[in-house]
Amino acid sequence: MAKLKVGVLISGRGSNMAALIEAARDPAYPAEIACVISNVASAAGIETARKAGIATAVIPHKDYPDRETFDRAVSAELEKHGVGLVALAGFMRIQSPWFPQHWAGRIINIHPSLLPAFKGLHVQQQALDAGVRVSGCTVHFVTPDLDSGPIIAQAVVPVLAGDTADTLAARILRQEHRLYPQVVRWFAEGRITPGDSRAEVAGVPQGATLLFSPEP
Ligand code: GAR
Repeated sequence: MAKLKVGVLISGRGSNMAALIEAARDPAYPAEIACVISNVASAAGIETARKAGIATAVIPHKDYPDRETFDRAVSAELEKHGVGLVALAGFMRIQSPWFPQHWAGRIINIHPSLLPAFKGLHVQQQALDAGVRVSGCTVHFVTPDLDSGPIIAQAVVPVLAGDTADTLAARILRQEHRLYPQVVRWFAEGRITPGDSRAEVAGVPQGATLLFSPEP
């Protein structure tokens, strides 16, 4: 069967993108990374993708008069590569409503908190300030409301005494690198139904397997 073509949007380091590329190296993985697009020319992830032999494009948002014009240029590039799923991976640009509407049900994001807690920026510091004892990451469908689309899966980590935003971010990131390839696999296998407010994941054991930390 043809593999799902995934387009990954990044703005920086690209470690989640690298985790997806790594997962897709397995011939049995049902998705391939068709292209990586960055809105920032200096994004380290672009070099990583190039070295991995993936098609890349830099589309600087500053070259466009408004958000939607930029979004349409990104969309055209994704369509050029026959993308069936858009995976935002540290893409730090707020999109116009047009983009998630155009890709509705075919666009996901990974966010470093247990949504709906801690949206926006500096979310690890938000978690520390709130005094929560667990945090984690969320993969969700993207809708026009920021960090608010139907949740697909989450992974949990403890918040430890003495944590800083950096130590907590690193602990969460390790789980992001496990969760995102898993969700892309489920999407490619046709297991995920977006739904209006909540996504359903079919045929996957619920419970411990989604709670990645403590380790199952
Ligand atoms: C990741 O922690 C990702 O969850 C977060 O940015 C980081 C990107 O790292 N995304 C957001 O905060 C989006 N709201 P990476 O470039 O190494 O994948």
